[in-house]
Amino acid sequence: MTPGQAHDRAAALRGLLARYDHAYHVLDNPTVPDAEYDRLFLELRQIETDFPEVRTADSPTQRVGGAPRSELRAVRHDVPMLSIYTETDKSEQGARAFDARVRKALGLSSEDAPVEYAVELKFDGLAIGLRYENGVLVRAATRGDGETGEDVTHNVRTIRQIPLRLSGAAPALIEVRGEIYMRRDDFEKLNQAQREAGAKSFVNPRNTAAGAVRQLDPAIAARRPLSFFAYGLGARAGWSVPTSHSTMLDAFAAFGFPVCAHRRVVNGPDGLIAFHAEIEAMRNSLPYDIDGVVYKVNSLALQEQLGFVSREPRWAVAHKYPAQEEITRLTGIEVQVGRTGAITPVARLEPVFVGGVTVTNATLHNQGEIDRKDVRIGDWVIVRRAGDVIPEVVGPVLERRSEELARFDLLASFPTCPVCGSHVVRVEGEAVARCTGGLFCPAQRKQALIHFASRKAMDIEGLGDKLIEQLVDNAIVKTPVDLYRLGVLGLAGLERMAEKSAGNVVAAIAKSRATSLQRFIYALGIRNVGESTARDLARHFGSLDALMAADAETLLAVTDVGPVVAKCIVDFFAEGHNREVIEQLRAAGVDWPEHAPAQHLEGPLSGKTLVITGTLPGLSRDEARAMIEAAGGKVSGSVSKKTDFVVAGEAAGSKLDKAQQLGVSILDEAALRAMLEPNAQNSLF
Ligand code: IVH
Repeated sequence: MTPGQAHDRAAALRGLLARYDHAYHVLDNPTVPDAEYDRLFLELRQIETDFPEVRTADSPTQRVGGAPRSELRAVRHDVPMLSIYTETDKSEQGARAFDARVRKALGLSSEDAPVEYAVELKFDGLAIGLRYENGVLVRAATRGDGETGEDVTHNVRTIRQIPLRLSGAAPALIEVRGEIYMRRDDFEKLNQAQREAGAKSFVNPRNTAAGAVRQLDPAIAARRPLSFFAYGLGARAGWSVPTSHSTMLDAFAAFGFPVCAHRRVVNGPDGLIAFHAEIEAMRNSLPYDIDGVVYKVNSLALQEQLGFVSREPRWAVAHKYPAQEEITRLTGIEVQVGRTGAITPVARLEPVFVGGVTVTNATLHNQGEIDRKDVRIGDWVIVRRAGDVIPEVVGPVLERRSEELARFDLLASFPTCPVCGSHVVRVEGEAVARCTGGLFCPAQRKQALIHFASRKAMDIEGLGDKLIEQLVDNAIVKTPVDLYRLGVLGLAGLERMAEKSAGNVVAAIAKSRATSLQRFIYALGIRNVGESTARDLARHFGSLDALMAADAETLLAVTDVGPVVAKCIVDFFAEGHNREVIEQLRAAGVDWPEHAPAQHLEGPLSGKTLVITGTLPGLSRDEARAMIEAAGGKVSGSVSKKTDFVVAGEAAGSKLDKAQQLGVSILDEAALRAMLEPNAQNSLF
């Protein structure tokens, strides 16, 4: 590539990537798959490495990386970044008072026409000024004290919704102002990941966004999913400014900025009031937090005429909604049992009005979260209720803790399930504590029955989710045993259940009595015991009694069973309620052929462990597995130092890489068949 070609190709790639970024991050309508985006991005980065002189400030590669700053540089705003007067009266009166002030300041009488307003949302994020010179983003600054802010250009460049170069004819200078925020779903995902990693969760989207923007290291900001809405204008030169706020926002959208669609031009106070009410009704279903609406006089000429009082414009006002975070007293902690047996600690609160409703309960997620937040019964706590998410305790207000309070220990307070009395356990390394009474616990009934009847478990045709819900809701079925006692009459009494189909279901249930050990083990719904582990367990033990008698150490000898799975199995069978249900199932005639525990067959692969990965040309996974097992080998799901061979087919991925790293021998299908050769005459394949 010549420098000239590099220059042209880089320019083309920048253009493409900028369009894809806009489609993906602003229009929510991706035009190419991520992989294609990544390929082009990497190509551009390579060119820029080879030909540093073609790199530009607006290149998409400049969104990430850059050396961490030791401190944020101060930036003096050419045009001060002001705040808005907040109307404290949350009623209609708030809007009427603003309109009255505007009319008075403009010298309008009651005969004059209503004032035209641009109305929009008050986003709960962090204000930012984005300075573009000749269309290129050159600086991003926080508001700071309004006169002087901080230079956060390095972080803002990582926000994909913010154009690095403006679309269309760009002014010599324009500073577009707006709000950086984090969507609620992005925030929830981020916090979910933090909790799973055992890291401290973030408090709310606003703080998380503000914290990310003010990081010294842009790599951290790049990992936080941030969004942006444009809503105002700062310094400009060489731009014929539109005549109204609303058309100015249209111009921003044309430059490539996200502008919120929930905006309108209305007339007089009634228009303001209607907008306030309409947005309040939809506030919870918006994907981001807002704390109110903003009314702005639409004509920019009138705005100028109205001017400022102290540091606030006379032409704009923020009309707020009830807060989404409040402080209240934590009076106790109870627990809730989920459909899968997860035990969630729930805070009992002194009633508090937050996010538009009175809240008395909030989630505390799990023990780890309680510890990290150091929340104790008796504390004053911050409660957040935003959108339709369940209210949560954000943390204690420590300076209000006046006396020594005891730490909360979930397992000590709730050693048994409050719903069914089975014991509660927490597997090491897992955040969540669980009820072990899977087959018995009413909280888990529907889930357990749906799983029990499913195709790969007992395979009861016609007994679907809906029917199980009806049976449980009508208290006809409590545990799987009750299924085998069902008669046609009991079923036919249900809504939308014809006698004929009731007969079919009863017949399907009866038929499921004759099953296999593997299906039965899988049907029990033991945590972490999927279909393939159930098969390994059935093969290894040969009988249910042997499995039920096994201790953790014995279980560890089974292919792919590690300490976590072993503990889940031991805990499950240790629970008397489960053993009882199993006994009753056998008494009801559920049965399977028992076979001798797998002995290691003598064959060419005796004592060898193999892993199959990718697609083999002439064998399905199950066929390959059967072949290997028939030759005395074991098939495992993951590659480790103990793996003897990896059988790799088409599109083999990370398992093949790992095998290569560990120096494990790799076979293709032909090599596998060749190894089995001595067995060929009595093999099925
Ligand atoms: S206009 C001169 N519009 O509210 C008026 N501000 O108290 C300048 N904000 O720090 C602001 N949504 O972060 C404006 N649609 C909106 C807004 C908005 C949120 C924030 C902004 C500012 C604060 C003003």
